[in-house]
Order: sequence, then C-alpha cells, then structure tokens
Amino acid sequence: MQMKLKLAVAAAIAAVAGMAGAQPVQVVKIGHVAPMSGPQAHYGRDNENGVLMAIEDLNKQNIVIGGKKIKFEIAAEDDAADPKQGTAVAQKLCDAKVAGVVGHLNSGTTIPASRVYHDCGIPHITGAATNPDLTKPKYNTTYRIIANDNALGAGLAFYAADTLKLKKVAIIDDRTAYGEGVAEVFKKTALSKGMQVVGEEYTTDKATDFMAILTSIKSKNPDAIFYGGMDAQAGPMLRQIEQLGMSKVKFFGGDGICTQKIIELSGGAKTLNNVVCAEGGSSIAKMPGGLAWKKRYDEKYPNQFQIYSPFTYDATFVLVDAMKRANSVDPKVYLKELPKTHFKGVTATIAFEPNGEMKNPAMTLSVYKDGKKVALN
Ligand code: ALA
Repeated sequence: MQMKLKLAVAAAIAAVAGMAGAQPVQVVKIGHVAPMSGPQAHYGRDNENGVLMAIEDLNKQNIVIGGKKIKFEIAAEDDAADPKQGTAVAQKLCDAKVAGVVGHLNSGTTIPASRVYHDCGIPHITGAATNPDLTKPKYNTTYRIIANDNALGAGLAFYAADTLKLKKVAIIDDRTAYGEGVAEVFKKTALSKGMQVVGEEYTTDKATDFMAILTSIKSKNPDAIFYGGMDAQAGPMLRQIEQLGMSKVKFFGGDGICTQKIIELSGGAKTLNNVVCAEGGSSIAKMPGGLAWKKRYDEKYPNQFQIYSPFTYDATFVLVDAMKRANSVDPKVYLKELPKTHFKGVTATIAFEPNGEMKNPAMTLSVYKDGKKVALN
C-alpha cells in the first residue's frame, strides 16, 4: 500500500515537472483595483478586462525572470469608487504581497491608496485617475500613463472660449477629488479666457435627480454647462437638461463622461449631441496599436469597452517591462527601473517625469454624433 502511494506521488511530481518544462515556475500576482460594483462598475469591468488581456498576452511570451518561468495572475479587487474601501483593498494587496498594482480608477480612491502603496513599497500605475494632486507627494511608487486634469480642464476651456466662442458657463461638480478638481481647472482657465461663470452647483456621485440645480442654472441662461463627474450622473443630467428645454446648451466634461455608456445613460436625449469631452490620451485610431488592439478586445469582451482599458493593458506591461529589466519580480528591486521606462505600448511610447507623471501625454476632445463618439483631433 505504502509502496503504491509512493509511486503515485512520484508520478504526480513527474507530471507537474513535465508540464512546467525544466524551469521552475513562479506565480507573480498583479493587483488591479477599480469600482466593480455600484453605478461605476462598467468602468471597472473595462479596466479589469485590460489587465486580464495583458496578463493573457504576457503569459504566452514564456517570460523568464531571475531564472524562473513566470506565470502572471491577477489579484482583482473592488473599491466601489469609495475612498475608504480604496485604502482597505490597497492594504489587502500589500498584505498579499502582490508584485505591483494597476489602479485605481477614481482619483478619490487612488490618491489615498497611493500612500498605502508607498508605505508598503509596491508600485502602482493608474491609467484612469486624473487629479494632478496624485503625483504631488512624488512617491517613487506612483505612476500615471495618461494626461492629468490640468490638461483636460484647460483644453476644454480653451475649446469653449476660442473655438466655440462661448461666453457664459455654469459649473456643476460631484464633490469627489476628480469632479471638484477638474471643475476647478476648467473654471480658472475659462475665467482667464474672459468667460463668465454664471452659476456653481454641487451634487454627488450617487445622485440621479438634478432638476433643482438645473432649474437654478436655467435661470442664469448659460451657453454651456461644465460637469465635473462621471457618466452615471451626466447621462440622466442630459435627459433632465432636455426636459427643462435647454436644448442648445453645450455640455462639457472630462474623461469621466467620455464613455460609451453615456450614450445609453442619456436615454436618447438629443442633448447628447451637445457634449464635448476630453480624455487623456490619443483616440483609438491614433494610438500606435489602437485599432488592432481594439478589434481583439471587442472579440474577447463584446460591448464592454468604455475608455481606459488600453491604458490598463499598457500599465500591466510597463510593470512587467521594469521587472524584466531588473531581472526581478521583487518590488523593492524592480522599482528602481520604473523611472527609466521607455516602453512602446498600444496607447503611446511611455516614459515618466521624475514625479511619476507621463512624459508628453496626448489629449483628445470628442463629441457625440448620431449616438456615436467622434474624436475631434
Ligand atoms: N479620471 C477620473 C478620475 O480621476 C476617472 O477620477
């Protein structure tokens, strides 16, 4: 009996060794965090898909680091776009000793989580959070591979003033780190361009009824409304703007409203045609690998594309690129390689400023025509 057991164990070991080839295999976990539940779950799904696709592609490359064949796995977490949950899951990923993290999605979660990652020495790269404050502490663990809201908010204000010659704007924000920040940059730039801010109103990232604040804004007769927030609010807001008869008022917003989902959430309102939004990268068509990548993405994840998945895909590759150059998956070792990144990704060639911001990021303005997002540049 004992002999039989020994033989069985020996056979099992041989089988595993055979499967793995001669080299030992090391599993390396890459964390991903975004809202996977609640009204922003569609953004989170898209971001997570980007990381999953990257991991699948990386695992096909049979990457060897430190003499071991590496098998990458995702450690996926949900922060529900909530700052407290954001720091809790960041700590969980630190405790799980992931090699690096892609995320988070919202500035409101990414900024407090960045401190947790810094304290435990694990690098994180966001392809979505755009508040400029994220890189102010100059943590050597924090990186961003898209343009921040200084570019997005200002770009939108320039377009409103210079191209559309708009004079009067009302501003609404959702009081999150993102919404408040991007609205502030827009406001400052609009004022400097001689535009008049005729009203300022506030909401939350949970609200769906904006009739009271929109009625107040209507009485100020603006040419445009700027909304600092996400599509879960902007969609119903566009419907209510139409209901209130403000059919000519332009509607500006940052990357948070620049999604596919806003088409569905605005529920057929014609005011969708008044939207001008800015996002921190090139349009898919102008990204070096954009169109081919998007075709593969859509085949794998039909109808799930929103906005940031090409960036979370590249962020995963940037982490692994640094591991390869360092010949180590230990964050303390490969962290030193991240500032030297020069990676030709799907979205762009990625290199970093000393504070972790991307060097020379692109920005794209888009509008919606006949229910489709169309890039202006
Ligand atoms: N860009 C958005 C943010 O920073 C998603 O929260």
